[in-house]
Formats: sequence, C-alpha cells, structure tokens
Amino acid sequence: MSHELGRLEDLPQDYRDELTQLNLVPLWPSLRAVLPPKVPTRKTRPTCWSYQLLRPLLLRAGELTPMEKAERRVLVLANPGHGLEKMQASAAMYLGMQLLLPGEWAPSHRHTPNAVRMIVEGEGAYTTVDGEKCPMRRGDLILTPTGLWHEHGHDGTEPVVWLDVLDLPLVYYTETSYAIEGQRQPVQPGHGEQAYRSGGVMPTPVFERSHKAYPMLRYPWVDARAALVALAADRPDQEAVQVSYVNPETGQAAQNILGFYALMLRPGQTLRLPARSPAMVFHQIEGRAEARIEDSTFTLNEADTCCAPGYTAVTLRNLSAEQPAFLFIADETPLHQKLGVFENRG
Ligand SMILES: [Fe+2]
Repeated sequence: MSHELGRLEDLPQDYRDELTQLNLVPLWPSLRAVLPPKVPTRKTRPTCWSYQLLRPLLLRAGELTPMEKAERRVLVLANPGHGLEKMQASAAMYLGMQLLLPGEWAPSHRHTPNAVRMIVEGEGAYTTVDGEKCPMRRGDLILTPTGLWHEHGHDGTEPVVWLDVLDLPLVYYTETSYAIEGQRQPVQPGHGEQAYRSGGVMPTPVFERSHKAYPMLRYPWVDARAALVALAADRPDQEAVQVSYVNPETGQAAQNILGFYALMLRPGQTLRLPARSPAMVFHQIEGRAEARIEDSTFTLNEADTCCAPGYTAVTLRNLSAEQPAFLFIADETPLHQKLGVFENRG
C-alpha cells in the first residue's frame, strides 16, 4: 500500500507564493492523483442515451434551427463524468446524433479529426467523401477520415438521422483540431465498397495495389450483417461473433485513432467482454440487448447508445430468445496500441 505524501497546505504560504510567482508547482501533493495505484482515474461514466427520448428533441432542433444556422445539426451525446460542456463520450471519443431534413445540404468541409457515421434511420441521404458519393442506409458505416472533403445531401422524403463518432476530444486536446470550408465536390466514379466487395480478393490493375490511405469509405450494413450471420453459422462453437471494420489494403483498423466493430449476439446469448484499457461505445443496430457496466445495467433498444469506461468488463445479453441482436462498437484500441498503453486484463 502506498504511503501518504506531503500536502500543499503543509508548505509555508510564503514558499508557495514564491513558487507560484515563478510558475513552479511542487509535484508531491499531486503525484498520487496523476499516477494512481494500479487503475487509472477515469472520468468516463457508464452512460446510456435512449434514442426514443432524444429523437423528438432532435426533430425539434430541425424546426428551431435552420441548416444555415447550424451547418451540422447535431445533439451531442455528452458524458456527465467529463462535464456536459466538454462534449465528449470518453477521453478520446465524441458522439453526436445528426439530423438532415429532405432537401437540406450540409456544406463541404474537411478537418483534422477523423469521423465516421453510423446511419440510424431514413432513406435518400448521402455523404460525398473525397468525391465518392456514399448512399446512407440504416446500419451503414461511412468513413470521413482526417483531411478528406465531405458534405451531406438528402434527396429523400423523410428525416435522416445518423450517429457521428469522432476522435475530436483527443485531437482537440493535442491542439491540432481545425476545419477548412470548401466548395461542392464533383462526384467521381468508383466505389470502394464495390472494389473490395469480397474478402480475400482486391483490385490490382496491372499488378498494382491501391496507394490510397483510405481505399474503402462505405461499409454497407447488408455486407457486415451477412458476414456475421455466415460466421455464426460456420462456427456454432465460437462464443463471440464479431467482425472489425478494417482498411482492406493493410488489414489494419479502418482509421488511425478509433476502432470500429460489429457484433452479433446469438438468441438468448450472454457475452462477457474482458476489461481492456480502451473505453467502448455500443450502439444497438437490431434487436434488444442488455449491457452491464460496473454498477449500471442498461437496456439497449434499437438505436440506443451507451458507453463504458476503459479497464472495465462489460457483459452483454441478448434479450430475445428467438432473434439475434446486432451491435455496432467503437473504441480507442488503435490509439492505445499506438501509444503502447493497450492492456487486456481479462
Ligand atoms: Fe465534418
């Protein structure tokens, strides 16, 4: 057990004043706070956001704030542990529910934080990323990686909502977050999801691999879901039925900082995920599940989202005994691995 260290108030006031005047701080009164024993201090609290409760407020934002006054009409899913004003779900993750109404246009820009969209509801909207027009359908994952131009349009008749997941808190913290406004992008032919349609084969015109940093921008849910269903049928003995969204050229995580996954819970299944260093976000794509995180138990109905702090085991349970449940997961694994702080504590 670590012994108590000297406190700030143990020091004479004149000494403390002299330190302050010279921009100096004694370390020992704060040492245990910045280097706590065995488990880091985490501000991230288990938190759940009900889609049923937030949806009317998001639609009301559509009436209250026109697009030209919002640019991106988003309600941020903020973790109270960090303080709502910080607009972060975890140390590195930002979550927002974004609304686009029929005929609206969210203008082109690019920025240093990486973003992905997980489409929640509605038909007819699309995101143009780096000249590739990506239709938005429920459950699709669309990347807008760092530095790539992107804009959102909507030719349909009903509101479209998607979940934005960004590494904004981390990029902002490192004082590298900024955006550039742009012109409407010309749409180019070619779709990554067609080029990389089948696992195991990839386009190599005249024996050349793609040199694009982000060769695949849209990951259709229909394909990810089919992969999970096939995996579950092929390996009935395997407990976790999970796929990762990867860069098909490198096999590495699809983006540099956050990791993205889809998980299928078999009918009635309970799955315990080990305590790993990264914080995690769970978004229910299909079915109903329960998430047990520390002392909290959340029921995840379709389109609900919750988050778990790092170093915490999470138990997921499919609440249906007949139907599979499908979840989208985002976490901070690529970041922790690059920093060399990744841990799986089992
Ligand atoms: Fe953006």
